[in-house]
Parts: sequence; C-alpha cells; structure tokens
Amino acid sequence: MPVDASAVFLKIQFSMAYADTLPPQRRFAETMRPDAWWVQPLAVFLGFTAFIVYATWAAFHPTFRAANGAEQCAYWFGGQGADYLSPFFSPQLFHPVPCPARLAQHSWFGGQPGWWPGWLIFSPAFLVLWAPAGFRFTCYYYRGAYYKAFWADPMNCAVGEPRQRYLGEKFFPLVIQNVHRYFMYLAVIFIFILARDAWDSFGFTDAAGARHFGVGVGSLVLTLNVVFLAFYTFGCHSLRHLIGGFLDEPSKKPLCARSWACVSCLNRRHMMWAWISLFWVGFTDVYVRLCAMGVWHDWRIF
Ligand code: FES
Repeated sequence: MPVDASAVFLKIQFSMAYADTLPPQRRFAETMRPDAWWVQPLAVFLGFTAFIVYATWAAFHPTFRAANGAEQCAYWFGGQGADYLSPFFSPQLFHPVPCPARLAQHSWFGGQPGWWPGWLIFSPAFLVLWAPAGFRFTCYYYRGAYYKAFWADPMNCAVGEPRQRYLGEKFFPLVIQNVHRYFMYLAVIFIFILARDAWDSFGFTDAAGARHFGVGVGSLVLTLNVVFLAFYTFGCHSLRHLIGGFLDEPSKKPLCARSWACVSCLNRRHMMWAWISLFWVGFTDVYVRLCAMGVWHDWRIF
C-alpha cells in the first residue's frame, strides 16, 4: 500500500506541536497542587463506608430482642399510636410473621412468602434496598467521587494517575453504569412511596382504634427524609435529559428548555443533596429504630 509522505510529515509536525503544549506525564500521585487534594477523597471514603456498613447491618437486623425476651420489629414504631416506617424497609412487600396488625397494613402482598429460604433471615429490606442502592451507586456524581476515593483512578484532578491508558466507561465492567437511567425511573417511584409513608406518619391511632391527625418529631424526620431524597432524585442528570425531551439542544424547544432549566436548579447542588439525603435517610432509620427499641422518646408536638 503506497504511503502518503505529505500526510506522514503533517502528522509528525502536529505531534511535535502538541508535545510542546501538553503538560508532562506525571508519575503516580505526583502533583503540583499546593492544597490538601487528598482530603475530599478520604472524606468520601469514610462517609460512604460508614453508610454502607450501617445500611447492611440495619438490613440484617429487622428485629431486636426486647427485655422480656420477645423478638420485636425494629424498623417500625407504633408507640403512642404513631406509624413510622423506616425508609430502608419501604415499600414493605411482605411482612414478617408474627407482626403487629398496624404494621401488617403496610404490606403489599401479605406475610413472609413460603419460598423464602429457611437459612436466610427474613428482612423486607432485602427485597427493596437494591433499587435505591443501584441508583446511588450509578449516580454520575457518586461515580466521580468513589472512583477517586475507593480505587484512586483517577487520584484527583491534576494528580498523576496509576496507569497511562484511559478507557473511560465505554468497556466492561464500567459500561454497566449506563443502567443509571433505568434506576432513575425506580427512584422516582420510591419518592412517591416514601411520600405516602411520610403522610401516614401524621396519623396517630387512639385507644379506640380511630386515627387522628397529629405531629410527632418522627413525622418531621420522615417528611424531611422524602424532601431531601426528592431534591436529590429530581436533580438527576438522567432525569434532566429525559425532561429536556432527550434533545441535545433543548433550547430549540421552549417547553423542553424550561423543564431542563427547572431540573438544573437542583442539579447545580446535586453533590450537596446527595450527601444530605444520604445522611438523613440513614438517620431516619436510626430514629425509627431507637424509638422502637425504647431508647429514644418520640415527642408529640400536637
Ligand atoms: Fe446523580 Fe442521577 S446523576 S442521581
């Protein structure tokens, strides 16, 4: 095959020109940054690890042993007529057997199914947690954060990388991260389910079995939980693309442009809402759990 000498010459000239302008290749972790660039990845590592450890522990501990030796539900608080369901266990597709009648009312399909393996502890969280976990794990913000924090590739902006070749997310296994757009649909459904739980937390059952409107600290905790999660979910990059009409240039369609701008309001603070909602959803489980165990008292505001 004949070689085009002028094309080769141009290519060499082009490479030499860029060799003068590109920054030099850095060694692993080498940088000229004067700031403490490792603090943020370390904070992400600690924060994310703490949450994963706690959420896993909570999912495996749906009950606790009361002082009288009986196993009691740890993810629902019904004292003083309250109705607080932990978001880690919502929606409750099946309830454990036995369980309080008011908790059983939260079940979509009744009691523990017969096909549940006998060797595995029954926890309603196992059936639902994968959806919000998948949504977070594949989130564009979290990906950028935990790639740095958990496997240091890249270490941080303008810091030498562990390898010279960049593959991006086009290849297996990271190409799987593209499922984020589908998890987003599930996450939006979860917002409505948790909003229903928050609404239920304003209903208090009296001794006669009648339900009255009331407000406890737990009602506020559950409500803030769904608000923070909504701010996080409705600022999602995938949702913005969807609501912008899947267009590369939404500005050409006024309605799409306005919807796109609306999601952008939340998207600008996506990192902030990601962390606030992560902390608060964990705290909501802690609150419900400690109330159920009698460690914390739920103050009734009215
Ligand atoms: Fe973060 Fe979708 S990009 S939730």
